[in-house]
Amino acid sequence: MTLEPDLLAPAEDSSNRSGMLVPREALRFDFHGAKFRLPRDAPLLGWVLDQFLYGEVTGIQCGHWLYAAPSLEAAAFFARQASEELAHVRVFLRLHALLGTRPGPAHPVVRWLSTGSMGRDYAEHVCSEMAVGEGMVLAVFQALIDTVEEKAVVRLLEGAARQEERHVAFGEQQTLALVQKDPGLKGVLLGMNLLSLLALPRLARHVQRRLGSDHEVLCQAEAFLAHVVALTELRLQRMGLLHRSLSQLRSTSRAWLLFRAQLHRLGARFRRPRRLTDTYLQDPALLGP
Ligand SMILES: [Fe+2]
Ligand SMILES: [Fe+2]
Repeated sequence: MTLEPDLLAPAEDSSNRSGMLVPREALRFDFHGAKFRLPRDAPLLGWVLDQFLYGEVTGIQCGHWLYAAPSLEAAAFFARQASEELAHVRVFLRLHALLGTRPGPAHPVVRWLSTGSMGRDYAEHVCSEMAVGEGMVLAVFQALIDTVEEKAVVRLLEGAARQEERHVAFGEQQTLALVQKDPGLKGVLLGMNLLSLLALPRLARHVQRRLGSDHEVLCQAEAFLAHVVALTELRLQRMGLLHRSLSQLRSTSRAWLLFRAQLHRLGARFRRPRRLTDTYLQDPALLGP
């Protein structure tokens, strides 16, 4: 699947104040006017909210990276992000209340994507969790904003989405800086993200099985998934990790990238991360005038 060329420009337009490499307008998917309508779709949307709620609770994992941030500026970002993710938890509880639904458990694939694939080192965190992971979540946020009929729900989602954009942009910029310093990381980070891309179709199949494919929005889930994969591919290209399309990667190359990524993750268990307490005296914030 390809995206409209005029939506691909990363900067300039006013909808891209966050500075994301894939701008907000490009995230939108044309659902051809299909809508989630209330009260008809409240139970179905309640299940969708449960998946987000779990993701937002795991968002506070960013607190872990306060300790291992490479700079005081990055640590300040994570401190602010942690309070924003906690605010998003409250947003999803409020959304449940608006729909008249109760919070429930998340699907195992969502739990694996959010917790099981938690970054073992800083590069994996900013690339896989922030740029790619939160980038995918943002595309689903946008889909809900465009398809839920209820204005109060959309307003709450809009507020959280603007904060998520900053998280994605920060992940992208940190990844760009890391691979510029160490080009050997490109293949490793690409391999890590291939794994989540492979897990996505499984989640989409479950969504259709669980929620049915008769619904006017959900019957477009497969095309929407292809859109999310195309966005992710574009993001990987703009971060300099992928130089052609995913479909052009031979199966042997995929297998090698996946193997190398797992090897890197394994090695990360034995590497002692540099802490802020080791690096603060060399921090640009302290060395400046
Ligand atoms: Fe969030
Ligand atoms: Fe976030």
